[in-house]
Amino acid sequence: MTQAHDQLVPVPDAAVAGTSCTLEQYREMYGRSIEDPHGFWLKQAQRLNWVAPPTRVGDWSFDPVRINWFADGTLNICFNAVDRHVNAGRGEDIALIFEPDDPVADVRKLTYAQLLEEVVRMAGTLLRMGVAKGDRVTIYMPMTIEGVVAMLACARIGAIHSVVFGGFSPDAIAGRIEDCASDWVICADEGLRGAKRIPLKANVDAALKKVSVRGVLVVRHTGGEIDMTEGRDHWYHELSQGVPAECPCVTMNAEDPLFILYTSGSTGKPKGVLHTTGGYAVWTETTFRYVFDYRAGEIYWCTADIGWVTGHSYIVYGPLQNGATALIFEGVPNYPEHDRFWRIVDKHKVAILYTAPTAIRALMREGDDWVTRHDLSSLRLLGSVGEPINPEAWRWYRDVVGKSRVPVVDTWWQTETGGVMITTLPGAHAMKPGSAGRPFFGIRPQIVDNEGKVLADEDKNVAAEGNLCITASWPGQARTVYGDHDRFVQTYFSHYKGKYFTGDGCRRDGDGYYWITGRVDDVINVSGHRMGTAEVESALVLHEKVSEAAVVGYPHDIKGQGIYCYVTLKAGEEPDDDLARELRNWVRTEIGPIASPDHIQFTPALPKTRSGKIMRRILRKIAEDDYGSLGDTSTLADPSLVDGLIAGRKNR
Ligand code: PRX
Repeated sequence: MTQAHDQLVPVPDAAVAGTSCTLEQYREMYGRSIEDPHGFWLKQAQRLNWVAPPTRVGDWSFDPVRINWFADGTLNICFNAVDRHVNAGRGEDIALIFEPDDPVADVRKLTYAQLLEEVVRMAGTLLRMGVAKGDRVTIYMPMTIEGVVAMLACARIGAIHSVVFGGFSPDAIAGRIEDCASDWVICADEGLRGAKRIPLKANVDAALKKVSVRGVLVVRHTGGEIDMTEGRDHWYHELSQGVPAECPCVTMNAEDPLFILYTSGSTGKPKGVLHTTGGYAVWTETTFRYVFDYRAGEIYWCTADIGWVTGHSYIVYGPLQNGATALIFEGVPNYPEHDRFWRIVDKHKVAILYTAPTAIRALMREGDDWVTRHDLSSLRLLGSVGEPINPEAWRWYRDVVGKSRVPVVDTWWQTETGGVMITTLPGAHAMKPGSAGRPFFGIRPQIVDNEGKVLADEDKNVAAEGNLCITASWPGQARTVYGDHDRFVQTYFSHYKGKYFTGDGCRRDGDGYYWITGRVDDVINVSGHRMGTAEVESALVLHEKVSEAAVVGYPHDIKGQGIYCYVTLKAGEEPDDDLARELRNWVRTEIGPIASPDHIQFTPALPKTRSGKIMRRILRKIAEDDYGSLGDTSTLADPSLVDGLIAGRKNR
C-alpha cells in the first residue's frame, strides 16, 4: 500500500460533498469530544428520546474493566427507531424498501407507520408465545423486512436478540443457542440467495436435535415445504391473529442488554459480544448521521446482512433512528447477472451505497460495462467496510461507480466497537485510497509495539506502524462477552494494560491518517467475514480420518483472504482428492458455507518446535508462496519437513 501524499484525493465539489461537518467543525468537535466527553456526549444524546434523560455519561475503566454509559438514563431503542418518527408526523415517510432476490418479484415498501404496525404485531406475538424481558431470542432469518421487524420487536419488549447469519450450519446455531441459553427462535421457512433456497427452518430443526428451546416462531417467506413440531413451532401468521393493536415499549435502563452477536476470535468457540441499549443507541445514531451525511428523502443502501454487526448498526439501528429510508436486498451481487447492484441503484435511485471490498473486487473483475450501462447519477456517497480495501479497488469504486465525483468513506470498525471508529467524513477530509482516515468523535487510537511501547498517539503527530489500541471508552463499546466477563477482559484488555486492543495491525502516516494492515492475531478475514483459524481446525480434527490440522489465511484476489488448511491424517489413511473434497464439505457442515476451505494440503506432519508448538509463521509464509523469507527453521524438531511442505504447495 502506498502512503504517498500525492495519493490525497480532495474533498469533492460542494455539490456532492458532505454537509454534516466541515474540516473546521470536525476539528472543533473532535477536540471537544476528547477534552469534554461529558458535555459532548450529553449533547449528542439529546437527539434521542429518553424516558429519563441521562445526567451521567461515560463511567468506565479499562483496568479493572467496567464500562457504563448514560447509566442513569432510560429509553427504548425501538421507540427511537420507529415510534418517535410516527409521533412527529413522519409516519408516511418510507422506512424500508425490500428488493427481493428475484428481480421481477414485487418490491415492498413500508412507511414508518406501517413498520410500527408490523413491529407491534411481532412484539405482541412474542409476548403471546411467552417471551419476557431479558430473554434471549435467536433470530435466523433471511434479509427480509421481517428480519428487521424481529430485531425491533425484541428490542421493544426488552428481549435480547442474538441474530445468527443464515450461512451458518445447524451445529453453529445449536452452539449459539446453548451458549446464551436462548429459549426462543425466530426463523423463516426458507431464504433465497441467487435463486438458491436456503433451508432455514430445516437447519433450525437439525440444531434443535442437539439443544432444546421453548418456542420457534416461523415466518412464511418462500412457502416451501417444512416440518412443524407440535407445541414448539408456531406459524407467525397464525399466532399473530388477533394480537392487540398496541404493544408499549418497555422502558430499558441504558445499560440493559440490547443484543448478543457471536464473533470469531483467535481461540476457542465464537464469543457472544454483548451490547447494551443507551450507549449503542447514541453511537449508531451519531455515527450514521455524520459518516453517511444522510439527507431527508434519500435512499440509503447497505448491502450487509442483518446477521453481521454492519447490518445491526447500519441497516437497522443507525438509519432508522435517523428516520432514513433504508433499502434491504435479499439476493447476491451476481444474480441474475453481474449488474444486479447497479440495476438496483438505478431502479431505486440509491444515493448512499455501503458495501464491502470483496463485493467491489468481484464486480470490478467483471468489467466496467456492467456498471456503465446503468444510470448511477443518483449516487452521492460510497462507503466501504469489513476489510482493508486495496487502492486499485478503491479507485475503481470511486471512478467507475462514483464517476470520480462522490466521496468514499472507508469505515474501520468491529463487532466489538458497535459502530464506525475510524473514517473520513465526507465534507471534511480529503481521502487516501486504502486508508480509513481519521478517528471519529471521542475515539483515541494509539499504536503500540508488541511490548506495549507507545509508537504513535493522536495527540503526538508522528508516523508509526504497530498494533492498534484504543485508550478511552466510547458509547458503543461492547460491555462484555455474554456469560464470560473474564474472557472479555482477557481478549481485549490483557495484552496492553489499560487499553482496548483491537487485534488489528495499523500504520499511521504523517498526516495522521490510519491504514489498517489486517489482523495480527489468528483471525482471518474471508470476504469480510471474520473467521477464527482455531474454529476451522477444531472442525477438521472432528473428522475421523484427521489427526491434526493447522489453518492459516493467504492472500486471495476476491475474498481478501482465503482459508488454507494443512492436514495430517491418522495412520493408515491415504490422502487423495476425494478426501480433500470430503473435508471441505465436512467443514461446511460443521460451521457453514462461509467457512469452506479454499485449499487443503495433506502433509505427513506439521512443522513444530522441539517443545511441540506448531510454527504457524512458516505455514503462513508457505501458503503465501513466500519461500524466501521463512526465517529461522533450525528450531524445528524436523527441519526437513519444510521442503516437503513447499513441494506440496507448488504442486497444488
Ligand atoms: O480487521 C478489521 C476488519 O474487520 C475486523 C472486524 O470484523 P467484524 O467484527 O466482523 O466487523 C466487520 C464490520 C465492521 C477488523 O478487526 N475491518 C473492518 N473494517 C475495515 C477492516 N479492515 C480494514 N479497513 C476497514 N475499513
